[in-house]
Amino acid sequence: MQVPFLDLKVQYKEIEHEVLPMVTEAMAKAAFVGGPQVSNFETEFAEFCDSKYCAGVNSGTDALRFALMAVGVGTGDEVITVPNTFIATTEAVSQVGATPVFVDIYPDTYNIDVSQIEDKITDKTKALIPVHLYGQPADMDPILEIARKYSISVIEDACQAHGALYIGRKVGSLGAVGCFSFYPGKNLGAYGEGGAVVTQDEETANKIRMLRDHGQAKKYFHDMEGYNGRLDAIQAGVLRIKLKRLNDWNQSRRKHAAYYNDLLSNTEGVRLPVEADFAYSVYHLYVILVDDRDGLQKLLNDKGIATGLHYPLPLHQQKAYGHLGYKQGSFPVAENAAKRLLSLPMFPELKPEQIEYVAESIREFID
Ligand SMILES: Cc1ncc(COP(=O)(O)O)c(C=O)c1O
Repeated sequence: MQVPFLDLKVQYKEIEHEVLPMVTEAMAKAAFVGGPQVSNFETEFAEFCDSKYCAGVNSGTDALRFALMAVGVGTGDEVITVPNTFIATTEAVSQVGATPVFVDIYPDTYNIDVSQIEDKITDKTKALIPVHLYGQPADMDPILEIARKYSISVIEDACQAHGALYIGRKVGSLGAVGCFSFYPGKNLGAYGEGGAVVTQDEETANKIRMLRDHGQAKKYFHDMEGYNGRLDAIQAGVLRIKLKRLNDWNQSRRKHAAYYNDLLSNTEGVRLPVEADFAYSVYHLYVILVDDRDGLQKLLNDKGIATGLHYPLPLHQQKAYGHLGYKQGSFPVAENAAKRLLSLPMFPELKPEQIEYVAESIREFID
């Protein structure tokens, strides 16, 4: 049996009858940038996130970069985040002139260890970026409390967590700005690049709208320099079609995670994902921890099961961040996890027999 890591083709079959007419209409109307598809998507996504405002942008990376700029982070500032995220989180920090400062993670949820944040706050700290990794919210209430105490902004990296809940509240709606990626493989994915920010603050939303569109609120009148960071109309159209199904798709992911948990519970040497009491995870990824991760990955690959590594080398150990001066051992929990984590196939259309085959194959390896 073949089990892909992710199958976007099967999902496309489900929505093809809505996507094709939408694309045809966009072509006929020559409506490619901006327009009602984008503004309607923004309204719908803001509502989905329990947020007052949404601005569509070109990627999750743009979302993070514009969010940092909008809350006033710039040259010489420090921004606290985790070392076990996709590099886009910290690229955004460096690209606005600030320095990423890392904090280690909890060994069970792989999200930021809140007890270690205050030690890293200096008079240069301007923002904190909790990453809701693999679809599971970080522990937001204590994070928000620390941010209030030190007057720093919280920017949520919700690029893997569309629809996740923290004590019943939508991620993205809790900090100053929530940032989303619509890269095709995300829980809500476009058919190309895309991203969005959500916020409860009108001024922040307006700043981000200016930043994404060359600093103009009115065509050819530029209050400042900005970027070409807009969301395309066709991508917004795809996202609107998919957004209607997102809750169902997230529920399917949760069902698959529960089935994996069931089949793999009591498998010695396999640590299963832990969902925190406060969390409704949307399982962007289903990640297990095993000592011989590379051996297991090879066996699964030989049996036709595709897996992924998220992520194989923490950011503080990447060449790109050598200048920050961290060493091996700086973040032991993240380093240990990076060597042992394995992401199993996870997408809404995964079939029970595929999950059973993956679980059987893992048990065969362990035995
Ligand atoms: C945690 C995290 N942050 C940021 C990003 C960046 O998003 P994009 O690829 O849309 O720029 C991603 C997506 O890969 C991500 O997973």
